[in-house]
Amino acid sequence: MNNTRQSCSHHEGQLIQTVALKEGEETIRKYLDFAGILFIALTKDQTISLANRRACEILGYEEHELLGKNWFDTVVAEIDRERIRAAFAAIAAGEGNNIDFKENTLWTKRGDPRIIEWHTTTLSDANGSVSCYLCAGTDITDYRNSERILKKYEKKLRQITLELKELNSNLEKRVREEIQRRRQQELMLIQQSKMASMGEMIEAIAHQWKQPLNAMGLIVQDIGESYALGVPDKNYIDRTISGAMEQIYFMSRTIDDFRNFFKTSKGKKEFDVLNAIKNIFTIISTQLKVSSIQWQVTCRMCGATMQETGEGEHCRELMVHAYENEFKQVILNILSNATDSILLRRARSEDEERQEKGEISVECVNESGMVRVQVSDNGTGIPEKLLDRIFEPYFTTKEGSGGTGIGLYMAKVIIEENMGGRIYAKNTEDGARITVELHAAE
Ligand SMILES: Nc1ncnc2c1ncn2[C@@H]1O[C@H](COP(=O)(O)OP(=O)(O)OP(=O)(O)O)[C@@H](O)[C@H]1O
Ligand SMILES: [Mg+2]
Repeated sequence: MNNTRQSCSHHEGQLIQTVALKEGEETIRKYLDFAGILFIALTKDQTISLANRRACEILGYEEHELLGKNWFDTVVAEIDRERIRAAFAAIAAGEGNNIDFKENTLWTKRGDPRIIEWHTTTLSDANGSVSCYLCAGTDITDYRNSERILKKYEKKLRQITLELKELNSNLEKRVREEIQRRRQQELMLIQQSKMASMGEMIEAIAHQWKQPLNAMGLIVQDIGESYALGVPDKNYIDRTISGAMEQIYFMSRTIDDFRNFFKTSKGKKEFDVLNAIKNIFTIISTQLKVSSIQWQVTCRMCGATMQETGEGEHCRELMVHAYENEFKQVILNILSNATDSILLRRARSEDEERQEKGEISVECVNESGMVRVQVSDNGTGIPEKLLDRIFEPYFTTKEGSGGTGIGLYMAKVIIEENMGGRIYAKNTEDGARITVELHAAE
């Protein structure tokens, strides 16, 4: 009875152990299936004894299709097969316990290759020889593929970078050459425009001097005649000297204005636009008078109007920080175009009354920090389709009369590139209007 009980309890014990083992196995199985990695167990002779759910999913087999099959013959890609098989065999033979592979390609049942990264370990039996291989793997196919694509693009990128570099250095060379060429061309243009302005200036001086020279001639003649008549007394001599000095002073001022005008500005400085414009009118006033052109400069800030030369008004609101002489050169170009245009209109016109009236009016204003100078004339106006072209180098409609077509081009370079302002043209009811805008000095 005791024996029976004993054997009975032994049997029960075994049963419990078996159940416990079975339950343990199932729990492990659940863990393995739940894991996101591939799990494969191989017997000593490399047949598959377990493949978890993930392994089956990736390989495209049902587990029962894999169980009992040789792992290497069934799924391992041929290229890796013998090398890894040999490594497994070496371990089984006790030659080290390190399985010398990290990743290899498997062929799925669907026929597509997957790259798996493995961690492998072995279980040994009581004698210490390998009884089982446990392999845990991660599918790194997508990673490797993107790596491959990345490498491909990296290579392409390197190649493109190289080509770009080469292109760039060529481009740099070409840009340098082009800049050099342009600079030379610009220098030439500046020189030409200076020469052209000089021509205009000499003409202006000739006009300015004509009258005082005549006056001097008269004075000198008068001295001779008075001497012959025995008139000269201290009073006469004083009057004559002061009269002559006045003319000389006028002529010398004209020359000073002229000399200053041709000095290149040393640097930017603050100056009063109104005063600079007045200065130009002083130089060309006689010329304008001879051509019967009236002129007027108005400051819309302080209300000052100038129609005569002489000491002009200053307006603190019309101060700019720029190159003064270059600015004057621009104004001179604009005024001489206006004069040309008025004379041309007059030459074309049959209307006597109209011929009398040549008018140039300059208006200055400071609007939101921009000093704007508008030069309007009552000449021919500019054909609408030419409005954009008149600022191009060498564009002229005065071929016959020796126009060079660089006046307004230089004006644009000076105002827009050197001084950061704007210059543009429009037509008015009476003629043309050129507008120059510069940032007001702070
Ligand atoms: N106020 C204006 N009225 C009518 N046309 C104008 C006026 N200003 C400029 N233009 C037109 O713009 C063209 C270009 O002017 P720009 O000063 O650059 O050269 P140009 O006057 O022809 O030659 P240059 O200045 O060497 O005498 C002129 O030929 C003329 O057709
Ligand atoms: Mg011109």
